[in-house]
Amino acid sequence: MKKKSVLLTMMLIIVFAITACGGENMEELEDLVENGEEIVESEVEKLSIEDIKSKGKLIMGTNADYPPFEFHALIDGKDVISGLDIEIAKYIADDLGVELEIRDMDFNNLLGGISTGMLDIVIAGMNPEPEREKQVSFSDIYYEVNLSLLVRKDLEKAFETEDDLIGTSIGVQIGTTQEDIANEIKDAKVVSLKTNSDAVMNLKTNKIESALLETIVAESFANTNDDIKMVEDLIIKTESGGSAIATQKGNEELVQYLNKKIAEMKEKGLIEKWMKEAEKLSNSEI
Ligand code: ARG
Repeated sequence: MKKKSVLLTMMLIIVFAITACGGENMEELEDLVENGEEIVESEVEKLSIEDIKSKGKLIMGTNADYPPFEFHALIDGKDVISGLDIEIAKYIADDLGVELEIRDMDFNNLLGGISTGMLDIVIAGMNPEPEREKQVSFSDIYYEVNLSLLVRKDLEKAFETEDDLIGTSIGVQIGTTQEDIANEIKDAKVVSLKTNSDAVMNLKTNKIESALLETIVAESFANTNDDIKMVEDLIIKTESGGSAIATQKGNEELVQYLNKKIAEMKEKGLIEKWMKEAEKLSNSEI
């Protein structure tokens, strides 16, 4: 996490330096760079709902390799980013009367995108977590999750309890809460990969013994890959509770608005409905 915050500080400084150079005041710039993060964070303007409306678009960051939350699907011959999170974002954009712009990025860079003002919201099956809350604010949970293991179908070793993971090799997506959880398992050899598809590929090619994913995501990968299966009887509970929308830190107006919309979508049964549709669509993707 420390490395990440250094990186973020650097990113923020660069963004600010570019803006500040426009004013051609080098001395001022040097001062600002020296004081780095503090100044820059306060310089990123607070985004109001009115700002989004007048901009005419809602910019959403995601990492579209996470079925059924978000994934690439072929619809009428076209590559379309689909899934529960996309439906949620569309609902919000419609409610605001603006267009939805989706930026498909590395999971690791999503929160930096909010801090620098490049993204308005992040919906990526992301769990609220104290370290992340230093950088962004989270909405209420819109979908609850647990964790499961993916293994090869021909696996001989049984994973019946969490203790069976001790000393084994486990694949996870880098920067995720699954990576943190795997790192806590005694003597585990944690292999952190850029995407969950990479974790699945490593599993299929015998490089790791299991991959740790959220249950509904594990199910989705198991359904589209013949040679792997989910360990049905081992559900690993997480403290995070589930997925939430991330937005600018301390932006009460946006957080409250998002919470209202989440409550509305839940009440109308839309979240469950969209999740079912997304599962169906992702299962038909190879
Ligand atoms: N829920 C996990 C986390 O918050 C993993 C989310 C990964 N999302 C994705 N779109 N790849 O860390």
